[in-house]
Amino acid sequence: MCGIVGSLGSFNAKEVVLKGLERLEYRGYDSAGLALLQENKITVFKDTGRVKNLISITPEVESHIGIGHTRWATHGKVTQSNSHPHYSMNERFILVHNGVIENSRELKESRLSAYNFRTETDSEVVAYLIEYYFNKYNNVNDAIRKTMSLIDGSYALVIIDTEDHHKLYAAKNKSPLLVGVSAEGYIVGSDIMPLLDHCKQFIPLEDGSLVEMGMNGDFSIAIYDVIGKERDYELHDIVVNTSDIGKGAYEHYMLKEIDEQASVVRRIISEYFKDDKLVLDDKVQKVFDGRDRIYILAAGTSAHAGYVAKGYFEKIAGIPTEVHISSEFIYNTPALTQNPLFIYISQSGETADSRACLVKTKEMGYPSLTITNVATSTLARESDAYVDIFAGPEIAVASTKAYVASLSVLLILANYFGKSDMNLKQELSKAAGIMDDIINKKEVVNKLAKEMLTKRNAFFIGRGFDYYIAMEAALKLKEISYIQAEGFAAGELKHGTIALIEEDTPVSAIITNKEINLNTRSNLSEVESRGAKTMVISMKSLSRPSDQIIIDDVDPMVAPMVAIIPCQLLAYYGAIIQGNDVDKPRNLAKSVTVE
Ligand code: F6R
Repeated sequence: MCGIVGSLGSFNAKEVVLKGLERLEYRGYDSAGLALLQENKITVFKDTGRVKNLISITPEVESHIGIGHTRWATHGKVTQSNSHPHYSMNERFILVHNGVIENSRELKESRLSAYNFRTETDSEVVAYLIEYYFNKYNNVNDAIRKTMSLIDGSYALVIIDTEDHHKLYAAKNKSPLLVGVSAEGYIVGSDIMPLLDHCKQFIPLEDGSLVEMGMNGDFSIAIYDVIGKERDYELHDIVVNTSDIGKGAYEHYMLKEIDEQASVVRRIISEYFKDDKLVLDDKVQKVFDGRDRIYILAAGTSAHAGYVAKGYFEKIAGIPTEVHISSEFIYNTPALTQNPLFIYISQSGETADSRACLVKTKEMGYPSLTITNVATSTLARESDAYVDIFAGPEIAVASTKAYVASLSVLLILANYFGKSDMNLKQELSKAAGIMDDIINKKEVVNKLAKEMLTKRNAFFIGRGFDYYIAMEAALKLKEISYIQAEGFAAGELKHGTIALIEEDTPVSAIITNKEINLNTRSNLSEVESRGAKTMVISMKSLSRPSDQIIIDDVDPMVAPMVAIIPCQLLAYYGAIIQGNDVDKPRNLAKSVTVE
């Protein structure tokens, strides 16, 4: 969701910014723009549509300074004028913004009523305020900090003063922003991706930070809080490799990432098992000590991983567990127990709804643990402990390997704090082998997708863990194929939803649990009798010859990681059939950084 790049240094800013924006495309956006120095004047180029359009309208310029933006519209339609960068009223300042300024209307009316605005965005108000206060204080740093003190909401800003081409400013509150540092200069980015070609180290920014970067002779950087006090900062090594973010021979990142799942599980085994013994950080042990209930907070696919994890923590570790969607929990907080532990699941580690919950539960004094794929993310940094899921960069918007990796790590956690008869290491390795088998037979799923996905809707059913897999299967399908899909508890269908079943309505059942497999089969017969076209994904020992996808047996706790894979492939091929942009589905963002 909105991507930001800023560049100041001896590298070619045009290249850094455009490449950086391409690397941020996966976050989701609808317009793109940049500002560069052209013939001693900072010039803006922007338009709706993809970064490749922006590349085609950007002239050949050698610039040592530049800012760029991919916009995911929140305030104002998707138009060229609403795209970033935005000018201040007399064009003294130019900025890009990610986030939402909640009081932009009030600020316009109370302080900026004398000015005409060129766009419908909240971001433009920030640019105007900066110039307004610059005219009063005659100091850029003071003007930006004053503006920061007035605006409510979330922001990551990169700002150019058009009268000083050797300075770049960045400010951050709630929205993610990092500063890459190299001997050649500085690159600011919404995440690590735009930094990779030039920087080996970065500075994560705290909320309420203003960064002033300079290249007058020597390079210089200083970070201030809103009051103007200089903040200390730490340099962190960048561990992501540019080779991890390529598509290789694949046509789409999503298929590459589906294919990588077995190796991700093997990596997790090697990271967390030392000589067959599970090893976790002491900090993780500490947050679990004395806790009487776990509250899992997450969104979307990560919440679906949370529902399965509830089963892990309750069945294996005997810890009562609740799962809440972050965007609901923050405003409808339920009654809590005496000693809760909050577990945040987030592949990006940046989801604004989950971050808002973390801020709240920290204020309440409760311990927190984040399960994430991005060790440098806000949630990882700000919670008391974090556990890495080691999935490697996930670029496709639809999450696949991060879901399976989160489940693997959550199962490891439950086993670490509980007891089960299963040989976890062995079961996880077995699961990885089965994943490879399913992936090798992906053409079977491709054929099934053509047969099954002929309608505007589709249903997935299951019971217990299979129900949670059904929910995730449905989310995958709707995200990228735009087919309206729902995941249902198989037994619940007849309480209303069965009214939607008509001739050839696709219904897929997931059957991996011995105790309840016959009940799900009965529910399947009910829909078949009403004309549904059915498909069954079953575990070998529970299978029937007519089942379309049969998976080798694994422990029922591991089954969700394996059974989801044909569903991911079904969604993938469904999107191909529809001719959709698989990796960048419409309206969606990879990193949902606004509430
Ligand atoms: C679906 C998907 C989303 C995310 C959700 C939460 O494929 O990726 O549903 O799971 O936006 O994001 P994270 O996990 O980054 O907190």
